[in-house]
Amino acid sequence: MEVTIRIKRQNPEMPGKEKPYWQEFVLKDVEPTDRLLEMLHRIKWEQDGTLTLRRSCAHGVCGSDAMRINGVNHLACKVLMKDLGPKVTVEPILGLPVIKDLVVDMEPFFAHYRSIMPFFVNDTPLPEDGRERRQSQADREVFDDTTKCILCACCTTSCPSFWANGKYVGPAAIVQAHRFIFDTRDQAWEDRINILAEPNGVWRCRTVYNCTPACPREIQVTRAIGEVKLAIRRRKREGIVNTKDVVIAAPGG
Ligand code: SF4
Ligand code: F3S
Ligand code: FES
Repeated sequence: MEVTIRIKRQNPEMPGKEKPYWQEFVLKDVEPTDRLLEMLHRIKWEQDGTLTLRRSCAHGVCGSDAMRINGVNHLACKVLMKDLGPKVTVEPILGLPVIKDLVVDMEPFFAHYRSIMPFFVNDTPLPEDGRERRQSQADREVFDDTTKCILCACCTTSCPSFWANGKYVGPAAIVQAHRFIFDTRDQAWEDRINILAEPNGVWRCRTVYNCTPACPREIQVTRAIGEVKLAIRRRKREGIVNTKDVVIAAPGG
């Protein structure tokens, strides 16, 4: 099939191309099972070598090729052409400064990530057997979903609250905080809860629910945010998740 791909381009360092503009590329012999990332490679290698995008693994693992495709955030390497139709629009993810074409500056996103202490904290000596800090299967399951995050930013850059206020820590950072807040082995959960109780923390979430369907790992992002909100309200982490009294913000979320 023939496909027209319309790409929003911008090069802040190039006179005349500082402002965003659209450019169309026509590709022939596109197979329904081709992935959008391969088509962007074809454009770059066959038509315009200046097209700039970020990618690494090409298999949905590294999270580096998040972009806005037909108005919705996806990883380009996970999207099949048969699901996009003959006319496709591709834009950089929103809310972060564009460096060039589809490449944005991820530093503000990672600054929010770093702010929630995304590392395991436990200074007590290891147990007698000296090998590992054990945890029950049930305790592990509480935060299993949020361990799947690959920091692609699809959620945060689809959130209107983040577009309106870049200081909002954003859903990805909250998901990462959730992973540690509900880990019974971690000792810094209260510190993280205090960080997220700040004005630009979790209460900036207005339950818009764009973030959950945007997640390529199918993490229940809005649900995780709801669980952190509840933990802040109660100032404790035990016994508040996977129960009927958890605030489920939206269907499936
Ligand atoms: Fe990406 Fe999902 Fe992690 Fe958000 S929660 S950064 S969408 S993997
Ligand atoms: Fe934004 Fe998701 Fe909340 S889209 S407002 S973080 S539910
Ligand atoms: Fe790694 Fe798409 S290139 S997730």
